Amino acid sequence: MKVYAHRGYSGAYPENTMLAFRKAAELGTDGIELDVHLTRDGVLVVHHDETLDRTTDGSGRICDLSYQEVRSHNAAKLWSDRYAPEKVPAFEEYCEWAATQDLVTNIEIKTDNTYYPDIERKTWDMIVKYGLEKKVLFSSFNHFSMTRMKEIVPDYVRLGALVEHESGVKVFPGAYCKAAGFQCYHPPVARLNDENVADCKANGIQINVWTVNDMAGLEKLYAWDIEGIITNYPGVPLGWLASKKA
Ligand code: G3P
Ligand code: CA
Repeated sequence: MKVYAHRGYSGAYPENTMLAFRKAAELGTDGIELDVHLTRDGVLVVHHDETLDRTTDGSGRICDLSYQEVRSHNAAKLWSDRYAPEKVPAFEEYCEWAATQDLVTNIEIKTDNTYYPDIERKTWDMIVKYGLEKKVLFSSFNHFSMTRMKEIVPDYVRLGALVEHESGVKVFPGAYCKAAGFQCYHPPVARLNDENVADCKANGIQINVWTVNDMAGLEKLYAWDIEGIITNYPGVPLGWLASKKA
């Protein structure tokens, strides 16, 4: 079971900042999950929300702002009592750093509310520029972005279908992902049950589950042989897994 640091080590550091990524790597995380958007002038940036309002001292939609405007704000606003200002990272800055690290990056293409034309190609080109092709896993709530990615990337690159919380519609996630040509299913942890885990296994689909902050469920996830867990507190499952192997 691999451990991915959700938006970096976001339980203790400002989410989606280089500080949170470095701190996750220092813990020995297997992977990092992050989110990408495109600025008005076409620069890929790492940020969760479509706007700067919640986590920075700026405001406005990223798609309406230039890269320089996005960079002019403090992305550590929510932690200003503890940490010095951080910038919203350019995705390129992240890739340059990730090329020096032994970890996998789960890149979430944030096209579920705003669709950024050609973001999939731009993201992949950056991965190639830094030689990260074998160290990435893509996901999106917008499955069109994964279908588009499938047209761009080599077969060995994994693509994940992110799904939201229970909709009431009965789903067969393994069959769905297989038919769509995706290798992974990325549900919220509350959505996992014996039936959909079995459906994924039967169809050869890996499961990467989010956001696992309540560690009481680790034993069950381990018993299900889940491929990856995405957590704000990567040190906890890393320690737990190490103790199981000891
Ligand atoms: O990729 C898992 C998780 O990050 C999806 O939800 O809203 O945190 O991007 P969100
Ligand atoms: Ca995400």
